Amino acid sequence: MKDDGLPNVIGAPLDRTDGAAKTTGAARYAAEFAPANLCHGVMVLSTIAHGRIVDLDTSRAQHAPGVLFVLTHRNAPKLPDHGRAAVKPPAGRVLSLFQDDIVHYDRQPIAVVVADTLEHATAAAALVRANYAKQPATVDFNAARGNAYKPKEAGQKPPDVEWGDAAAGERTAEVHVDVTCSTPMQNHNPIEPHATVAAWEGDRLTLYDATQYVSGVRETVSKTLGIPADNVRVISPFVGGGFGCKGSVWSHVVLAAICARNVQRPVKIVVDRQQMFGPVGGRPQTSQRIELRATREGTLTHVRHDVVSHTSDFEDFVEPSALITQMLYACPNGATTHRLVKLNTGTPTFQRAPGEATGSFALEVALDELAYALKLDPLDLRLRNYANAESQSGKPFSSKHLRECYTQAAERFGWSKRPPATGAMRKGNALIGWGVGTATYPAHRMAASARAALQPDGTIVVQSGSQDIGTGTYTVMTQVAAETLGVPVSHVRFELGDTTLPDAPVSGGSMTAASVGPAVQAACQKLRAQLLERAVADPSSPLHGLSSSRATLDGGWLIALDETHRREALAALAGRSGATIEATAEAKPRDEDKRFAAHSFGAVFVEVSVDRDLGEIRVPRVVATYDVGRRLNAKTARSQLQGGIVWGLSFALLEHTILDTRVGRIVNANLAEYHVPVNADIQDIDVTFVDNPDLNFNPLGIRGIGEIGITGVAGALSNAVYHATGRRIRDLPITLDKLLLPRTA
Ligand code: MOS
Repeated sequence: MKDDGLPNVIGAPLDRTDGAAKTTGAARYAAEFAPANLCHGVMVLSTIAHGRIVDLDTSRAQHAPGVLFVLTHRNAPKLPDHGRAAVKPPAGRVLSLFQDDIVHYDRQPIAVVVADTLEHATAAAALVRANYAKQPATVDFNAARGNAYKPKEAGQKPPDVEWGDAAAGERTAEVHVDVTCSTPMQNHNPIEPHATVAAWEGDRLTLYDATQYVSGVRETVSKTLGIPADNVRVISPFVGGGFGCKGSVWSHVVLAAICARNVQRPVKIVVDRQQMFGPVGGRPQTSQRIELRATREGTLTHVRHDVVSHTSDFEDFVEPSALITQMLYACPNGATTHRLVKLNTGTPTFQRAPGEATGSFALEVALDELAYALKLDPLDLRLRNYANAESQSGKPFSSKHLRECYTQAAERFGWSKRPPATGAMRKGNALIGWGVGTATYPAHRMAASARAALQPDGTIVVQSGSQDIGTGTYTVMTQVAAETLGVPVSHVRFELGDTTLPDAPVSGGSMTAASVGPAVQAACQKLRAQLLERAVADPSSPLHGLSSSRATLDGGWLIALDETHRREALAALAGRSGATIEATAEAKPRDEDKRFAAHSFGAVFVEVSVDRDLGEIRVPRVVATYDVGRRLNAKTARSQLQGGIVWGLSFALLEHTILDTRVGRIVNANLAEYHVPVNADIQDIDVTFVDNPDLNFNPLGIRGIGEIGITGVAGALSNAVYHATGRRIRDLPITLDKLLLPRTA
């Protein structure tokens, strides 16, 4: 509480302002919008991984009950640049829009059946028959490795990066570890799959879309169709989880718009659960070789990280796994490379902490192996190579408190009691192991705008064309607005998810809070100044005649600073004005911010329990402490990090998209066989923070917290399994078949 008795709302564990709407079902998601005359599109997907469509028999489908239209490559409109007019790597994807008869991957959309009901469309879609001229498909990552090539870039950096003097680093080294780790393909499975409702009014298109980027959808769809951006409106008030998959427009969005134009009715296409494993991207498979060279004391002298990941045969997507090795530990000399292998799959995409999730697994395992080679405590080794600047760029960190994270989390975990030897802790028939990993994710920020308006009824409406992908944007922006203006949170309504609102960037790369927060703050500062000016200039106000610098707005009251009995409710001023009073502002990174490297950090400690007979792994405890700058809401921040850790455990132990290398078909395209954790898989997760506002990064001191939670976890877990069992599993997921233990003592 502040001295004046008002809660200091930024940082408070405020309940979600949209919580009631979500729990009562009042919140509407993309697939729940039902404009008049709505009809339903169902995608038909290819059943081969590579070839041409020789014949596509749609006659039975076309004559099935309720069917209005069947879209195929034979009747699809010819789009500008063969449907590629909006292609803009890494987020503007090459889509499957029926511009030719080529099949590049299994489960590629080849037709859309539109009918009056979902049931009619689904039944008719099953009647479409395709005959193909098959071609050999490349679907075996390891077999295709020989054709790996250098992409244009990796995470907006060159694919190959070197720093320092490799020869000197090798000369001074006394110990060398050389490990190869791999991570599998994974697929996005948010609770809400992708969905789009497309509705035309004349030449104007409205899209209700499940997206992380409303203005990105507007740009991609308008360019792809060749219509003005101003004719497209995208609405997305609620998103049931977006972890990178909804950061790009995928084929169904444009297909829905094409179908709706053709039938002259609104069309809805929902990507069903199986279709999440085909026409939309997932996390690419990686193979990562890491070489670490160090002195006997454990000082790194040279690091090398070579990454190979897969992409589709028609588009490059790079998983930038080695970027972490350029910055996380202090090392004067290093080299990183990224290579791609083309497979007949859909193009992979961003999946929560792209680069860092996969890269931190390999790097943290390699560090652990080095610690054993040196007979050093794994935490001690990390502290001996603590970086005060990015190794590769030499830039100082905007703010870094990782040392406190290690100390705090180690203390809460009890790390000092860890026996150095493997297999030294037992509990009944289980081997117990403890592992550590470092979490990190870069802080990103882009230009964003916001508008704040005092309504005649005294409430404040704040708007930005941003998104809430489940992270709490509605809530934290309400807090920023309320505190900046000096009004109770209950007087503020925040609106987002509409391209008619002021522009905001993609809600990806953990950048929404750090981008939109400063815009909301700036708009509210402007509005506050305007309101104070109005009050002192208004003969009906008790503040009339004061200098505005001697007036304040606090708790929803306009107050004379020197005579606090001179006051009136903001609602009174609002009522007299009779119209909205508003201010708009843009906030963007300053040039001087580029002097710093901005990253968030965390320390993650994991305990595993491994059944000696069955190889079953349980995770009784995860303890983690994070340095993410200032938190906007203690509750949503903790939820974000806990959720990230759950996904880290899932990444380490469960998730694995299995491609049948004979036919190129994903064989576990469902939630029965694509495993994600349930409550019974998750035990204690202890998340704490060291709170240090990062004012070198933005005026609110926040760095964003979406992605960091998944990083570091899989490495720490694999290290804990080694500590428990003496078995080093470098290939994720760590399933029990990889771990069945030879019975020892
Ligand atoms: Mo981010 S890859 O949009 O979780």
